[in-house]
Amino acid sequence: MPRSKAATKSLTVLFTCIGRRVSLLNSFRGAARELKIDISLLGTDTTNLSSAFQLCDKKFLVKPVSHRDYLRQLLAIVKANRVELLVPTIDTDLLLLAKNKPKFASVGCCVLISKAGVVGICQDKRKTYRFLLKNGFDTPVTMSVRTALSKKKLNWPCFLKPWDGNASRGTAKVDNRKELLFFVKRIPNPICQEFVNGTEHTCDVYVDLNMKVRCVVPRKRIEVRAGEVSKGQVVKHPRIMREAARLVEALGAGPGVITLQLFLTSDDKVKFIEINPRFGGGVPLAIKAGANFPKWILQEVLGRKTNIRFDGFKDKVIMLRYDGEVWLENVNKKIKK
Ligand SMILES: Nc1ncnc2c1ncn2[C@@H]1O[C@H](COP(=O)(O)OP(=O)(O)O)[C@@H](O)[C@H]1O
Ligand SMILES: [Mg+2]
Repeated sequence: MPRSKAATKSLTVLFTCIGRRVSLLNSFRGAARELKIDISLLGTDTTNLSSAFQLCDKKFLVKPVSHRDYLRQLLAIVKANRVELLVPTIDTDLLLLAKNKPKFASVGCCVLISKAGVVGICQDKRKTYRFLLKNGFDTPVTMSVRTALSKKKLNWPCFLKPWDGNASRGTAKVDNRKELLFFVKRIPNPICQEFVNGTEHTCDVYVDLNMKVRCVVPRKRIEVRAGEVSKGQVVKHPRIMREAARLVEALGAGPGVITLQLFLTSDDKVKFIEINPRFGGGVPLAIKAGANFPKWILQEVLGRKTNIRFDGFKDKVIMLRYDGEVWLENVNKKIKK
């Protein structure tokens, strides 16, 4: 909930499962500096051996998301530190946060998360497919493995992936029935999808606190490492931007940044494959190009005016990622992984 006093100059933000999100953390720090806000950035993780965690102003070791105490721990941190904004970073706690958003709101904390129903659609690729079809978006034909195997004629290659997967884990391109039979035994919860040939793009879609889509940044995935973009380029493609905005509006996702994945095919079709209702790993590229999501979020939470243009970012910017280091010195304590 935006604050009524536009003059407030301090803000406490909590990032959950912060892991390696150093760049995102730094961009919130930079945005606060620009806005002359005294910001306190808090982070949770299950281990001290976490780069972004180490760079937080306050660190909280918590139970794993699946533990029954996790929610209680988060609420306690929020209350004790008067956290006003909670930013999730990975898929695992999205549903829990969505379901419990009112509990956080009752202690004055705005959680940057979509409704539980929306998270449910995004986290089940079978539901995502049905949503896309029903709302008239192009997407690769998707079916259960049983249906695929029962078909007399199937267009090869096909693409197998878990309906509840992430980070490209357990995916396989299969060229024939024999390969399909081989991989279905090795992929948990597989679905069978038409294989799309095309250029893969990701879109960062900014939804404001009033649930309006305000900006869409498409970026081409040039190279991917461990399921996350390592080289990417901003591509101001008006049709992708319009379609992405329409998708997020139809879904009612937000507030915050929603990350869409799609293919642009050689015959110029925009085929959506995935929706992640959180900051994507490649978001630093959009922020660098001028879509300053952290700044807009901070402004909104403080009840300040924003100046957001739908296409208010630089085209063709390229991001080349590399590994950075965080150093911990003189560590005597036994550290648990
Ligand atoms: N139908 C498809 N055809 C070709 N490649 C695909 C298809 N679906 C997914 N991929 C590739 O697999 C990757 C992971 O798939 P995705 O649907 O994004 O699942 P997740 O990221 O949850 O593992 C994508 O980034 C893309 O490169
Ligand atoms: Mg994906």
